[in-house]
Amino acid sequence: MPVRQLPPDLVNRIAAGEVVERPASVVKELIENAIDAGARRINVAIAGGGLGLIRVADDGSGMAPDDLSLAVERHATSKLTGDDLSHIMTLGFRGEALPSIGAVARLSIQSRSAGATEAFAIEVDAGRKSVLKPTALTSGTRVEVHDLFYATPARLKFMKSERVETSAIADIVKRLALAHPEIAFSLTTGERTTLRLEACPPGLIDHGLSRLGRILSEDFVQDALRVHALRGAISVEGFAGLPTLHRPNSIQLYLIVNGRPVRDKLLAGTVRAAYADLVPTGRYPMLALFLTMPPDEVDVNVHPAKTELRFRDPNAVRSLLIGALRDALGAAGHRATASLSQAALERIVQPSGRPTSQGVSQGFAERAQAPLAPLAEPSGDTRGNATTGNGLGADYPLGAARAQFQDTFIIAETGDALVIVDQHAAHERLVYERLKHSFANGGISRQLLLIPEVVELDGEAASLLVGAAAELERLGLVVEAFGASAVLVREVPGLLGTCNVKGLLSDLTDTLAEEEDATGDRLLAERLDHVLSTMACHGSVRAGRRLTPEEMNALLRDMEKTPFTGQCNHGRPTYIELKLADIEKLFQRR
Ligand SMILES: Nc1ncnc2c1ncn2[C@@H]1O[C@H](COP(=O)(O)OP(=O)(O)OP(=O)(O)O)[C@@H](O)[C@H]1O
Ligand SMILES: [Mg+2]
Repeated sequence: MPVRQLPPDLVNRIAAGEVVERPASVVKELIENAIDAGARRINVAIAGGGLGLIRVADDGSGMAPDDLSLAVERHATSKLTGDDLSHIMTLGFRGEALPSIGAVARLSIQSRSAGATEAFAIEVDAGRKSVLKPTALTSGTRVEVHDLFYATPARLKFMKSERVETSAIADIVKRLALAHPEIAFSLTTGERTTLRLEACPPGLIDHGLSRLGRILSEDFVQDALRVHALRGAISVEGFAGLPTLHRPNSIQLYLIVNGRPVRDKLLAGTVRAAYADLVPTGRYPMLALFLTMPPDEVDVNVHPAKTELRFRDPNAVRSLLIGALRDALGAAGHRATASLSQAALERIVQPSGRPTSQGVSQGFAERAQAPLAPLAEPSGDTRGNATTGNGLGADYPLGAARAQFQDTFIIAETGDALVIVDQHAAHERLVYERLKHSFANGGISRQLLLIPEVVELDGEAASLLVGAAAELERLGLVVEAFGASAVLVREVPGLLGTCNVKGLLSDLTDTLAEEEDATGDRLLAERLDHVLSTMACHGSVRAGRRLTPEEMNALLRDMEKTPFTGQCNHGRPTYIELKLADIEKLFQRR
């Protein structure tokens, strides 16, 4: 076939495919235009998941008739004054969005330039542009997009369900709204207004906070840790969720660079690294971070939808972010998730089962009896488990141990709350932090087993462990080959105390197998953390072990001193706190 020059409308439809991937991309481009136009209020309405209708109305600067006519042409923009792409201060700069939308849908724009006496309208239907017509509009710009992708049926086939497209639109509206709290936003889906956000007075973080609660949930705000760091001309501000608030996907990572919400791999990877070993693998923290830097520090012209970036100095951004997040998380120390306690309380006060004649639900009454029985009638040796009253509670955040429940939970009392600690989860975290600390400070001390232990494994597991012998020795575990399918263990990390060596080795084999092909500093460091975490799990007091009052109090005091003890290495909480006021509410004393 001969080479031919493609006709302009086909060229436009091909180009549009890059910019307009789905209805949410149209919404994003139109909101960005409104923001660039200085709007104070942006109202979005959609129908049929955005495929039927998308309407974005703003009260921004509007366009004069000549500008309006030119705006729908390709490569026409008012946002680049010179030919310099390294100082972009606006969200748009390519002059691609409106013509792309016009190439694949029925686009109509009404606009009234600020101070003008008349408004004008223009239409573009599958690339065909109408003449300008006078119209009625009091101010700003109103853009309507009907029948998106009707001109490109192939693309139409790839659309997900109306529900999925609608939620993608809601997501993009929220991201842009979070990035621009000074602007009022609303989103109407069909007949219902699903989001209504009033403008927050200026002053980036604190005024953004009220919006954070609306967008990331009130739970998030209750537990969020303030993040703040500045290095050179680059700053990061925002809020990071406690690690116990993890989510199954990264939707709740809100990353905003110079007012632009991004889904950037470098930033997302950095966040995950900062939370590594605090949230379980495959889960994501919640956070909202605002990065600000001079425009020439970042290239926004690397992705057709402008959602990815390239930083001039990626390492500087990465280390600033990691440092800021680790500081915030470290400072949170043993703080538990307030919302978890809340959730626990709600479960207590919303018993299953129907209310009985006395107004107390049957299900609750039954459940209340069973687990409390061991405490109510202590058998001979449990009595020694309750400590006597003293003023300890007031001085220590985790209070004084009062009892052990089911040989698994420590019940402690502070000045104004009841604290319930999961002894295994808490101890595991402590051992892990200590192992990491001693590893970083010159090595983990080892304890010689009086009688070396022979552990039978399968051949593959044995060779995996022997292959990692040098690495394990640095971590305090000395193993050597013993025949084809066994290893001999001579020394274990001193911190583990008396542990089940066979159980430890079999878990370690799994850890090593999972990350067998780890290479490079980052992966090796992650694998090392996993090995330490596996060791910690085996060196910790198990659920089901009876503790003395002294042991319980020692554990509480250690938790207060050690960073990151609010959750175990698997991201589960190590304790919850029930405030006196909430307990009083349960009993209707308040
Ligand atoms: N809501 C609006 N209010 C005022 N002017 C607008 C509005 N929307 C578009 N414009 C004008 O139309 C021009 C073209 O818009 P378009 O979105 O196609 O390109 P852009 O925003 O310049 O760049 P990009 O393709 O990167 O979005 C803009 O440069 C702007 O001058
Ligand atoms: Mg634009």
